[in-house]
Amino acid sequence: MPGITIRGITLATIAAICATLVAATNHLTAARIAANEQAWLEKSLEPALGGLDYDGSITAAKLVLEPPHDLPGDDAVIIYRVYSGGAPAAALFAVTAKGGYAGPIRVLVGIGAAGTITGVRILEHRETPGLGDGIEASRSDWVHQFDSRSLGDPPVAGWHLQVDGGEFDQLTGASVTPRAVIKAIRETLLYFDAHREKILTMPATAEAL
Ligand SMILES: Cc1cc2nc3c(=O)[nH]c(=O)nc-3n(C[C@H](O)[C@H](O)[C@H](O)COP(=O)(O)O)c2cc1C
Repeated sequence: MPGITIRGITLATIAAICATLVAATNHLTAARIAANEQAWLEKSLEPALGGLDYDGSITAAKLVLEPPHDLPGDDAVIIYRVYSGGAPAAALFAVTAKGGYAGPIRVLVGIGAAGTITGVRILEHRETPGLGDGIEASRSDWVHQFDSRSLGDPPVAGWHLQVDGGEFDQLTGASVTPRAVIKAIRETLLYFDAHREKILTMPATAEAL
């Protein structure tokens, strides 16, 4: 009888040690996964800053705007506010462009504090390879034509594709995709212009502007 008790206690002790080890490993792995995801996010956002020097991390002062809002798309918009020497330097808007050929297109629009575009990048899309996917910076230079431009350069009437009477190039044989993207950029610039001060300085909350 005492033998059975000792064996029982030994088994229970081993089980407890194993459970503790599994919990500790889970905890360490989850922390590492979160750190990797964070690093990946920062890396995918950075190109839209066009080499701008910034303090700390891009994601530290993010703002989430729940719909309804006046930015492109019907879903929540994330605005990453970026600072340089403690002063507001830029805001990155992750918006959804509707009207793509194959569905919504997630666009990251970087706008410097003075209203000049620091960079535009496509975060996600389902456009056709060889046609609409020219909006990706890795596929063509199309997206670079917006670098350093602003609402006054060109004036808002020029923020359309050339084929629609504006100043920006389309993609050969695929004007649906770039039309959706340029509309989202134009609307984001207009929104920034209307709410600049608040966007750059308000504390991170889910409240709409
Ligand atoms: C299979 C298929 C896939 C297409 N994919 C795209 C696309 O990803 N983006 C796009 O703008 N147009 C796409 N198009 C072309 C559009 O139907 C349309 O002809 C074009 O966008 C108009 O551009 P254009 O004004 O330069 O002729 C596709 C057409 C076909 C048949």
